[in-house]
Amino acid sequence: MQENIDSAIEAAVRLIAKANNPVSFSGAGLSAESGIATFRDKSEDALWAKFDPMKLASQEGFSENPDRVIDWYNDRRKTVAKAQPNAAHTSLGEQSGWVHITQNVDNLLENGGAAGRDVIHLHGTLDKDHCNGECGYRETIDMGNPPALRNCPECGISMRPSVIWFGESLPERALMAAADAAQRTDLMLVIGTSAQVMPAARLIDIAREQGAGIVIINTEKSAQVADSDIELTGKAGDLVPRLFER
Ligand code: OAD
Repeated sequence: MQENIDSAIEAAVRLIAKANNPVSFSGAGLSAESGIATFRDKSEDALWAKFDPMKLASQEGFSENPDRVIDWYNDRRKTVAKAQPNAAHTSLGEQSGWVHITQNVDNLLENGGAAGRDVIHLHGTLDKDHCNGECGYRETIDMGNPPALRNCPECGISMRPSVIWFGESLPERALMAAADAAQRTDLMLVIGTSAQVMPAARLIDIAREQGAGIVIINTEKSAQVADSDIELTGKAGDLVPRLFER
């Protein structure tokens, strides 16, 4: 309840203080205040309200019109290249002993101070391309000046962004590391995710089922809340720093 936000924050702070293996699990809402659009919420700017995900984020969409897909990702890359970490990213980045599992394809947790080894990108990252065939060729790209549609220099098949599309499996190493962290955590801070996309959202259940405290920060009431969770309704950039005030 919003009128009890101060006591809910105090309860969350107490959980965080005694946590041995704290984990954050974030989605697009974490980066919203950095000017990066979310996918689905009440905002008219939410990406999947404006665009058809199957045309832009699936193999079918890529085969139908590869230029359209690459141009859309390149627009997002240019936005992300200019974005700065917000107060939520920097607060998380200042903490030690945390594992950060994120569905976000930006690098704002790392830019906010989190060590790369502590950040698990479940859905890939925009700053890489890989061959859409089987050859395994990869490239880091300049997000401010990304290349147009081009072919793999090794095998000639199209290059594509290294983000997960609908119908594709998550990167195995990232998924294993995230599942392990969710199984071991005693406190999961869930920030800015609609928790609708599987298997990522299942990590919250894994943590909850083995007894972890769950603290949820979202601007909207979440459908995925259990009675035992602490729900903080508001912006990540306001609420996350309050959890770490001393
Ligand atoms: P969504 O766009 O589905 O959800 C974002 C959530 O953040 C919503 O519940 C909003 O209410 C909340 N929100 C918005 N602004 C916020 C703020 N300032 N502070 C706190 N919360 C805020 O994003 P995800 O859950 O990340 O997949 O979506 C999961 C996946 O669906 C994405 O990784 C993407 C997409 O298809 C891939 O790219 C593979």
